[in-house]
Amino acid sequence: MKSAYAPYSNFHVGAAIQLSDGRVFTGCNVENASYGLTICAERNAVFAAVAASKKKPEIIAVAVLNHRKMPCSPCGACRQVLAEFGPEAVVWYLGANGVIQRTMKELLVDGFALCPNEKI
Ligand code: THU
Repeated sequence: MKSAYAPYSNFHVGAAIQLSDGRVFTGCNVENASYGLTICAERNAVFAAVAASKKKPEIIAVAVLNHRKMPCSPCGACRQVLAEFGPEAVVWYLGANGVIQRTMKELLVDGFALCPNEKI
């Protein structure tokens, strides 16, 4: 969160993900003058884990926070990316009344799958 580059929204987000092998990776949001190119903290954490892994990483836990301590759940795009590597993960984020704990299955119902019956 302290590394966030968010001059446009001034909303600094940090995410930490834990893998099944125990490693923890973090990410922050990185904005751009062309707003749509912005990437969220959660996806940056996932991509850092993938880049540091030789085989597909398995996410078991995710935590998200922001410097304003405002309610902020992972956006839809991040849910889809998190589900790719952590369909069984537990996710913590700030809600209106404190920390909320959810499973990925609760957060992403009927997420997209390419050829769902095919083993990749
Ligand atoms: N943002 C995240 O990093 N994660 C979220 O879960 C929601 C939103 C970022 C994107 C943008 O830089 C800023 O928060 C405001 O939308």
